[in-house]
Amino acid sequence: IKYVAEPFRIKMVETIKMLTREERVQKIAEAKYNTFNLKGEDVYIDLLTDSGTNAMSQEQWAGVMRGDEAYAGSSSYYKLLDAARDITGYKYIQPVHQGRAAEKVLFGVMMGEGQYSISNMHFDTTRAHVELAGARAVDCVVPIANEPSKRAPFKGNMDVERLESLIKEYGPENVALVIMTVTNNSAGGQPVSMANVRETAALCKKYGIKLNIDAARYAENAYFIKQREEGYADKSIKEIINEMFSYADSFTMSAKKDTIVNMGGLFGVKDDEELFTACKGRTISFEGFTTYGGLSGRDLEALAIGLYEGLDEDYLRYRIGQMEYLASRLDDAGIAYQSPVGGHGVFVDAKALFPHIPYNEFPGQALAIELYIEAGIRTCDIGSYMLGNDPDTGKQLEANFEFTRFAIARRVYTQAHIDIMADALIEIKKRADQVKGYRITWEPPVLRHFQAHLEPV
Ligand code: F0G
Repeated sequence: IKYVAEPFRIKMVETIKMLTREERVQKIAEAKYNTFNLKGEDVYIDLLTDSGTNAMSQEQWAGVMRGDEAYAGSSSYYKLLDAARDITGYKYIQPVHQGRAAEKVLFGVMMGEGQYSISNMHFDTTRAHVELAGARAVDCVVPIANEPSKRAPFKGNMDVERLESLIKEYGPENVALVIMTVTNNSAGGQPVSMANVRETAALCKKYGIKLNIDAARYAENAYFIKQREEGYADKSIKEIINEMFSYADSFTMSAKKDTIVNMGGLFGVKDDEELFTACKGRTISFEGFTTYGGLSGRDLEALAIGLYEGLDEDYLRYRIGQMEYLASRLDDAGIAYQSPVGGHGVFVDAKALFPHIPYNEFPGQALAIELYIEAGIRTCDIGSYMLGNDPDTGKQLEANFEFTRFAIARRVYTQAHIDIMADALIEIKKRADQVKGYRITWEPPVLRHFQAHLEPV
């Protein structure tokens, strides 16, 4: 397929360089085969995450200069409130320093020991904050999400039938929160349909359970709804987002993704004043006074502008177009990935590429290491290596899929870079049967994939 040309031109550049193959082999060994331990300058194309790695616009940089650094009542804060209220329709909005801070503040009020949080899929920090609040995180995605080669328009959806049986099994009073993650990052940036949000919300209402939207990639999700769901083709991205938020009670948002800033987060509460008051107290102790929430005034300003830029349809068409182009090259080469491609990257099916590597030798991680050695590309595992151990038994869990995530930063890499990604995968496929698995030699107790040490089996 033809790619969608960039709807911008470049007026500032950052030099990148590629080390030799020998140097890369040495660097990844020194990093204990953990891509998080590599130095950024030793990476040629950095696809570790699309979070905080995005390129801000000239308008946002101009906003940085205008940021009001008043401790209390900064004008940048009020500008941000106006933008977030306009887009979400929520009465109460709180900036925080990033998405996990929103989770920490909100979940600490909303859940406790013996309770459950049920989500289409919890992102790893989201799961961690549910557990830190004493509750258990249960994923409830539609089964088709676990079949990378089967195409469906909304593979990020909640399995609503199973959600109801889980609510009955645990008892509605023990389900503290239902979380809808849009797009569903861990399932491959897969979108959630408006119908599914509506049905999930109706079920929550029936059992008196609150619904929270994890809104990190809400604009990409809205773009997919516009493209794929009947009745939305003529609606604006903002109208679609507005409707989506109208079904929930609260949202947490990492603003480092669709809001195109390098640092920032938000949470919002639709109308529950008591809940928001409790959250404000925690915000002040963990993040900072309510009108800055752990951010500089200049960050608040860039965030207020980014909230609107992320909704621009020319930009979204180009962005999703980049993913679709990369995916089409993989289709031509017979390389499997979570299909159809998601919103923020391509999740390559490492289990299909390396059928000889078992889950407890981490195929997704093995591919991440090969990509660095092959072309200086940094990616990460979204599979058993990321999932970690069972909190009760300490045993390695087996993930439903073993992906290597090519998370593509917004407005950063060009068409030529995308071709390099495809070429690297095609080279690795040629020697796939020689690639070996890895074992962990050291790991910390929580979120181990960020820090663990590995060695080849
Ligand atoms: N929720 C989702 C769906 C996320 O993808 C992330 C972060 C968070 C919450 C936490 O936000 O990083 O601002 O604290 N995801 C990044 C990623 C790190 O690489 O997918 P944060």
